[in-house]
Amino acid sequence: MKNTTGYYTRTAQLLHWLMAIIFIAAWLIGFYSGNFLSYETDGSFKGEVITLHKNIATTIIFLVVIRIFWRYTHPAPELPASMLPLMKKLAHLGHLALYLVLLALPITGCLFSWSAGHPAPVLYLFDIPRLVQEDPDILAIVKPLHIYISWAAGLLLAGHILAALKHHFIDKDNVLRSMIHQGK
Ligand code: HEM
Repeated sequence: MKNTTGYYTRTAQLLHWLMAIIFIAAWLIGFYSGNFLSYETDGSFKGEVITLHKNIATTIIFLVVIRIFWRYTHPAPELPASMLPLMKKLAHLGHLALYLVLLALPITGCLFSWSAGHPAPVLYLFDIPRLVQEDPDILAIVKPLHIYISWAAGLLLAGHILAALKHHFIDKDNVLRSMIHQGK
């Protein structure tokens, strides 16, 4: 099955931009709380910021499942013929890595929260059923894991944005447009 239109489907575009907004917001809020707030000096404000981080970020779990299903059933447009095979390979590996962090971050985030004895709330509406009880041994693993993966995700995202801008402004090809428009 091939995509010969040169464009992502409307659904794929919507999922991409919606998840981009949620992911960047969750990343910035998590980074702010983790690196600029402390329980000693900021007290309950830090708690509220982390709660906001969780309520936004948990939605990624649901969206990524839909997105992976959509990606399998609706192939992406081909990369430009002008791209070197090595660059195409790198682009595919980069996209695969982005999907992996989209899965790994909410999973380690939920495990982090549960093992610390807290819930994993979704949009202030409901909690994801707890799969792990409070457990300092699990916390000691998943906390650094969540933090390191979040840094790797930040680097990947920066590379992804720079690559999209290079395609648009330097190579002047259709790659960024294929995620925005439909046809001419
Ligand atoms: C796409 C999803 C997510 C992204 C991009 C993300 C990103 C981040 C980032 C950048 C940090 C700061 C790391 C640092 O200290 O440098 C962080 C911390 C944290 N995240 Fe996430 N996260 C996600 C999902 C989740 C989920 C689903 C939960 C829990 C339900 C969660 C719970 C936490 C907690 C408790 C912290 C520690 C905050 C603090 O110590 O102040 N995260 N996350």
